[in-house]
Amino acid sequence: MAEVQLDPLVIGDSISQDVRPLLRRVEVLDQTDSTNDVLLRLASAERHGRVVLAERQTAGKGRRGRQWQSPGGNIYMSMGWRFDEPATSLGTLGLVTAVSVCRAIARAGLDGHGIKWPNDIQVSGKKLGGILVELSSRGGPGCDAVIGIGINVGADDPGASQIDQPWTTLSQSLGRKAVDRNQIVGMILEELLGCLHDGAGAFEGFLAVEWPIWDLLGQREVRIECGESILDGTAQGISPGGALRVLLGGGRTAEFHSGEVSVRSA
Ligand code: BTN
Repeated sequence: MAEVQLDPLVIGDSISQDVRPLLRRVEVLDQTDSTNDVLLRLASAERHGRVVLAERQTAGKGRRGRQWQSPGGNIYMSMGWRFDEPATSLGTLGLVTAVSVCRAIARAGLDGHGIKWPNDIQVSGKKLGGILVELSSRGGPGCDAVIGIGINVGADDPGASQIDQPWTTLSQSLGRKAVDRNQIVGMILEELLGCLHDGAGAFEGFLAVEWPIWDLLGQREVRIECGESILDGTAQGISPGGALRVLLGGGRTAEFHSGEVSVRSA
């Protein structure tokens, strides 16, 4: 079956009128280095409300300086957004984005998926997608965000075999040969724009309700690698600022703002 290409008009038309006016422009590139970098190269004022998608990325970026393998058939998308708040107040933007993605793919029919803190989308212990938020201050109190979203949809070409952890695709997880990427992108944008429309001040309340629904680490035994130190404990959800709360030995609860988390088998 020939794959349906991403189409900016189809995507735009699929988004509810409630939030569609917030989008300034949706464009689809056949190939680029990184959709995040396409937006980062624009002047700050040009990025807001702009969405860039690519069929392939030649230098896709993952978290913690990793590469994001980007063969054809998946979703690689970035959106620019201006905030009145400083970058220090936006520690939960990646989490809010991950929740928006989870809500969208649930609408597409998937269940059992969720988020491994901070923003790995997983199903059955395998990675389905990830988020890379890049924040820059623009002088004055506010900041600019580039919100990058990568979702494995259908690609099974050799590039994907270089991924260093178990992974899956939406197509495999839904048991469908064809997954409509335009529809998925439209639903992700609709969910995310709904959150952005409510403003960063609403993120805390949104996550208080939504995070427990999607949290794959809650009450599980975890190991956190943070710089040189390795700590074991029990995950306890997130703080209002988005840090991972972990109950360590001796009844002490610690909050981690970054680090690599793995679930310890029983
Ligand atoms: C992760 O490491 O889990 C985050 C991956 C984020 C990948 C997306 S794909 C679209 C955007 N452009 C990039 O170069 N990276 C993000």
